[in-house]
Amino acid sequence: MYELHFPVMLSECIEMLNIKPDGVYIDGTFGRGGHSREIAKRLRGGKLICIDRDNSAIEYGKENFSEFDNVEFIKGDFCNIPELVSEKVDGILLDLGVSSPQLDEAERGFSYMADGALDMRMDRMQKLSAYEVVNEWSFEELRRIISEYGEERYASKVASAIVRSRDKKEISGTLELVEIIKAALPGAALREKQHPAKRTFQGIRIAVNDELGEIERFLATLPDVLKSKGRAVIITFHSLEDRLVKHAFRIAEKPCTCPPSLPVCVCGKKPTLKVITNKPVLPGKDELDKNPRSRSAKVRVAEKI
Ligand SMILES: C[S@@+](CC[C@H](N)C(=O)[O-])C[C@H]1O[C@@H](n2cnc3c(N)ncnc32)[C@H](O)[C@@H]1O
Repeated sequence: MYELHFPVMLSECIEMLNIKPDGVYIDGTFGRGGHSREIAKRLRGGKLICIDRDNSAIEYGKENFSEFDNVEFIKGDFCNIPELVSEKVDGILLDLGVSSPQLDEAERGFSYMADGALDMRMDRMQKLSAYEVVNEWSFEELRRIISEYGEERYASKVASAIVRSRDKKEISGTLELVEIIKAALPGAALREKQHPAKRTFQGIRIAVNDELGEIERFLATLPDVLKSKGRAVIITFHSLEDRLVKHAFRIAEKPCTCPPSLPVCVCGKKPTLKVITNKPVLPGKDELDKNPRSRSAKVRVAEKI
């Protein structure tokens, strides 16, 4: 088991957070604290609040961040920041998706490379797991998540293979699911460079953890959580995540709904955020060579007005 998670676009994110030594910051996706450690090191009199919905991440942080006296840990969802943190902050970082330790621990069920139970919950207190999604969700729901979240063009074939197989016997293991997926795919798809189960696993994982819902709820409250000039730095790995961030930032920057023909605004909606990155920041060549996980990373930054 690898404990380490290689943090994506670390120097770019730290720079774009514009850290003030006496400021208050939130890392909403602590993981193994690669980004958090660099934030904490830059604080003098300030504070870092680390949040993760996975208790093992929080335990890791409490054990491994003892040299810092300005770091707090909260187990929770970043969409609940307004309830979890009572003060406004100078910056928030989100590095979305799963961490390497979550993927590497077979029993967590995230990996299509090792045998484990169909779980995929980031928060192991959550009721819904991949087991229910795979064994209980309708064909249409399965097809939709595999197609939309997994971007699997053979989603119908995979979903119907899952339904046929579970009609005979429940599906309980990750490698069992991998075999069902492989048998459903045409030869050309099996010969692609990507693992044939990658897209289906991604679709199921996003559904189990309601990853897009979490981002939407977070973005809705973001302007209320930041102090004036406070920044949000968000790393996404999926086009649907990036679209949500881009859209929410754009609406917060230009919320006016008045027809362009009106000489002055009458809707009364005032901008709350200023977009700092008109185009997403992408990883450089060095990072792409060193860190394969960075391949689909995009960073967007906005600042509270
Ligand atoms: C990609 S990892 C973060 C890695 C971290 N930046 C590092 O350098 O170690 C994502 C982490 O965010 C957590 N996470 C994902 N969605 C979350 C949510 N909605 N609320 C809180 N934590 C979440 C996951 O449990 C995982 O530990």
